[in-house]
Formats: sequence, structure tokens, C-alpha cells
Amino acid sequence: MSSLAASISTRVADAFEAAGLPRELGQVRISDRPDLGQFQCNGAMAAAKIARQKPRAIAEDIVARLKQDDRFADVSIAGPGFINLSVTDTTLAAQANGVAADPRLGVPEKAAPETVVLDYGGPNIAKPMHVGHLRASIIGDSLRRLFAFAGDRTIGDVHMGDWGLPMGMLISELARRQPDLPYFEPGRTGEFPAESPVSMADLEALYPAAAAACKADPARLEAARAATAELQAGHPGFTALWRHFFDVSVAGMKRDFDRLGVQFDLWHGEAIVHPLVGPMVRDLGERGLAEESEGALVVRVARDDDRHEVPPLILTKSDGAVMYGTTDLATIIDRVRTYDPDLILYVVDQRQHLHFEQVFRAARAAGLHGKARLEHIGFGTMNGPDGKPFKTRAGGVMRLEDLLAMATEQAEQRLTEAGLAADYPAEERADIARKVGIAAVKFADLGNHRLSNYIFDLERFTRFEGRTGPYVLYAAVRISSLLRKAGERGMGEGGAGAILPPTDIERTLVLELCRLPDAVAAGYDKRAPNELCDYAYAVAQEFSRFYGACHILSESDDSLRASRLALCRVTRDALVLVLSLLGIAVPERM
Ligand code: ARG
Repeated sequence: MSSLAASISTRVADAFEAAGLPRELGQVRISDRPDLGQFQCNGAMAAAKIARQKPRAIAEDIVARLKQDDRFADVSIAGPGFINLSVTDTTLAAQANGVAADPRLGVPEKAAPETVVLDYGGPNIAKPMHVGHLRASIIGDSLRRLFAFAGDRTIGDVHMGDWGLPMGMLISELARRQPDLPYFEPGRTGEFPAESPVSMADLEALYPAAAAACKADPARLEAARAATAELQAGHPGFTALWRHFFDVSVAGMKRDFDRLGVQFDLWHGEAIVHPLVGPMVRDLGERGLAEESEGALVVRVARDDDRHEVPPLILTKSDGAVMYGTTDLATIIDRVRTYDPDLILYVVDQRQHLHFEQVFRAARAAGLHGKARLEHIGFGTMNGPDGKPFKTRAGGVMRLEDLLAMATEQAEQRLTEAGLAADYPAEERADIARKVGIAAVKFADLGNHRLSNYIFDLERFTRFEGRTGPYVLYAAVRISSLLRKAGERGMGEGGAGAILPPTDIERTLVLELCRLPDAVAAGYDKRAPNELCDYAYAVAQEFSRFYGACHILSESDDSLRASRLALCRVTRDALVLVLSLLGIAVPERM
């Protein structure tokens, strides 16, 4: 089915067409002035320019045509020619019953689904995930859910940083510490131990030590570079060692992402496309797209009309080392070959915008992208109270695991304050606290437009009041418990009754519920999960107003009670659906 706004738009478009004007002008949206009408159409302004008439005259003509349609309760003109529209309560009820009967709650499935690769998360091997990776994971996972729900075929790829200089740093650092390991035996090609010589904790200690040594001592940096080059050239011992680093890190990441409720289809990294790099670089050279510059091989991507400088993309440095952009280009080749996607989304920190501009231009110049549209979905930083990217109290990188533990603990406290889940079994209560904590973190992150920075404030994020995850979560849980009670009292199966034409008390809630498809479409089109957060919060607030203003279980009129229970059920389902698109799980009870 289509949304109420969409079907009204069709009706208004008909009126514009009948008046000899373009149909697009009939687009309506939710009114900015609900006191004047439920929907508004601003098309008369643009029509005035085309038809060289006064906007008001055009609006009058359109309104006269719409007044003949008995689905409208009111059509009027405001100001110079804004058209305000309200539908009848019967029309609203018909739409709401359609939503209630639809498993997709009125959200249409895409007519032409696409294949979409989403690149998000992007943690690095041997380094703990930082808050940038947290944002990439949360936003990317939400977009994957949203695209999949819309009907697209989605492929989520974690695209780990597992190649390049950091790997050489780790190898050369370990070679100093444990030179007797078989991986360093010159000329050895045979079997290497199956057991990793390092744990995740070892790796996390090894990396900062190696990085500091390379910074302080050029000889150490040189050794790391040499090890990187040997690894990339296929040195058997280094390759076996790298495999251990990879496996140990991925096991840790899987645990972290699991806790966070973030999923991926592919656990690929940069290294996996290494075999494609050599042939790609040669091909770009042969086609005259890559050229030498101070010993490096580069692709020039600047354009005459650039307003800011776009430096060349470096493919290989003078020592032959492969760069970040090189693996990104090779990854495009790989994705096009394997999935032939229509779209590739890169959910990565906005500070990498230039990098993606370079990569996209190079890919398009060389025609490596097949039919895919390439989009960088940037985001801002999560900051500490000092306004700088969030760190631990000690000034270090906040580990995802610790952050989630903090959120759970804070959520637990909030449950106690609110007297929720008080007498539940300990295990269930712990599970609820975990879900509330994750809802708090994810909703706070997704609730801002992705490009804006925000301050991490668990105290506020975990509150059960205000625009928070726990508030919306609680609204959904509370409705479920109401529906359970109705079921126990034999008042109809969980709100399956017919929705009656709304009265003043119910009207805004019904309108809000009919708006779900528009919120989903806005989130999809703008790649902006905050549209979903705004919607969920608005529904939860509207529900709370409705709940406070009218009788539900205590309503004595059977059909009115059934209608209100049906509204409760649709509200709950809409909240659960939107939360699921945000990657937020709803507990059974609280
Ligand atoms: N590993 C990178 C980082 O930590 C993010 C990777 C993003 N994805 C990409 N295709 N470059 O900054």
C-alpha cells in the first residue's frame, strides 16, 4: 500500500494536471502548521512562475477541484497560496485499518530493488576499536537494516584495516622480542604452528610499543617498512604470522560486534584484494591513467572546476608499498566482479571525505566501478565533555567492551530508580539492562544527524524521560504489557479490532501512525537514521498523550475499546519495527 501523504499527493497531482500544470507540483507533505491542516502543498508558488499567474489564483483553482473530493474534510488557502488539506476521519480510519492489516505497516517494498554493498565498521587488526568505529558500525548496521527492509539485496562488509605498515610494525616488533619463533627462520617455507604465538592482549600491547619505537627511531621504521614489503611480497613466515594476527583479532571483533548487535555478511579486509593490486596497477599504467611522480605511481584526479585542491591518489610509493587508496580501488574491482552492485555505500568518518573523493574519481576515470554509484556516507565525531573526540578518563582509547559495560551499569541504575524489572529473575534483569544500555547508546548516536558531532553523555542517554532510547523502548514495552492484559481479560486478541474514525483524542496518533512510510522513505533517501529516531520519538510521545487522555482497558463501549486496542497494537508494532531498523532490540517486559 502507499502512505496517506503519497495517495493525497496523487490526488493533488491530478488536480494540477487537470489545470494544465506539471504533476510534480502536487507533492504534499505533513503540515508545518497542524492548526491549519494535516497536510500542505506549496506547488502553487512554482506553478505561478510557469503559468505567469498569481499563486493565489492558481491555488484557488486547485482548491476548487479538490473540494469535489469527499475524502477531504477541509481544503483552504493560507498566505500567498499555500494549500492546506485535511482528510475526513473516515478516510483516516480506512488508511489506519489498511496499515493495521499490513505486515509492513503500510511501508511499500521497492518496485526495483537494487544490490547494495555497505562498507562499515572498518576496525583495524591488533588495535582496539575506538569510538569512530563505534559510530561507523552503528550507522552502517542501521542503514543495512533499512535498505534490506526496503527490499534491496544488501551485503554488509566490515572492511577491516589488516594490511599495510601497521602489519610490518607488528612483525618487526615481534621479531625483536621473540627472534627464535619459526616465522623468522630464514628460508623456512614448510609448515608453521597452528597455535597463535600472540593473544589479543599481546597484540594490543605490541602495536603501541611498535608504533612508538617507529616514531622515535628511523631504523625501526625502516625495519617495519621492510617487513611490510616482504609480507606483501608473500614471505611465507610473515604470511603465517599475519594469519594469526588476523584470526586472533577477528575473534575479538566478532565478540564485540555480537554484544553490540551489529552484523556483517562479509569479514573481509584490505588484504583479501592484494592479489588484484599488481594487475590493477599495471593496467592503470598501461592505459596511461597512472603516472610516475617523484618515484611514486599516482592517478591524477584534480579537475579544473575544483574549489578545493584534490591531490593525486597515490597507488604505490617509491618502495613499492601499497596505499590505503590502492586497496580501496582494488576492493571496488572485487565487489563489482562478485556482486555487480548498483550502489556502494562507505560509512566512514567525514574526515576521510577527501580520500573517498580521490578513490571515486580514480575508479570512475578507469571505469572500475561497473554500474555502481559510489557514495561516501560521512559522520561527525563523538566527543567527550571537553569537546574533543571521546577518550577514557586516563586519556586512552575507550574500548567498545568497556563502553558497553558502562552503559549497562548505568541502565541498571536507571531501572532501579524507575522501579522497573524489580522482582524479575536476575538473568532477565541483566538482559533488560543490557538492552536498555545498547538502546541508549545507539539511539543517542543515531538520533543526531550523522554529520553533526555530539557529546557522549551516558547520564542523559540512559534516562527514561526525554528524547532517549530507553524512553522509546519503554513506550513499546508498556504497550505490550497493556495488550497482554487485554488478552488475559478476553478483550480481543492483542488489538485485532477495527479502527473507528478517530475523534479529537485519537486523531493525531492515527495521523502519526499513517506517516511511518514517509519516515522510512526519508531515512532511506537521505541515508539518515535520525529520521527514524525523530519518528519513533514522535510516536512514543503521541502515544503517551493518547494514553493519558483516554480510557482503553476501562472503556465500556466494546467497539471503541477494540478500536483503541488496535491503535495500541499498531503503535507498538510501528515502534518495534523502527527500533529494529535502528538495530535496537526490545525486551519482552520491563
Ligand atoms: N580502517 C579504516 C580506519 O580505521 C576504515 C575503513 C573504511 N572503509 C574503507 N573502505 N576505506 O580508518
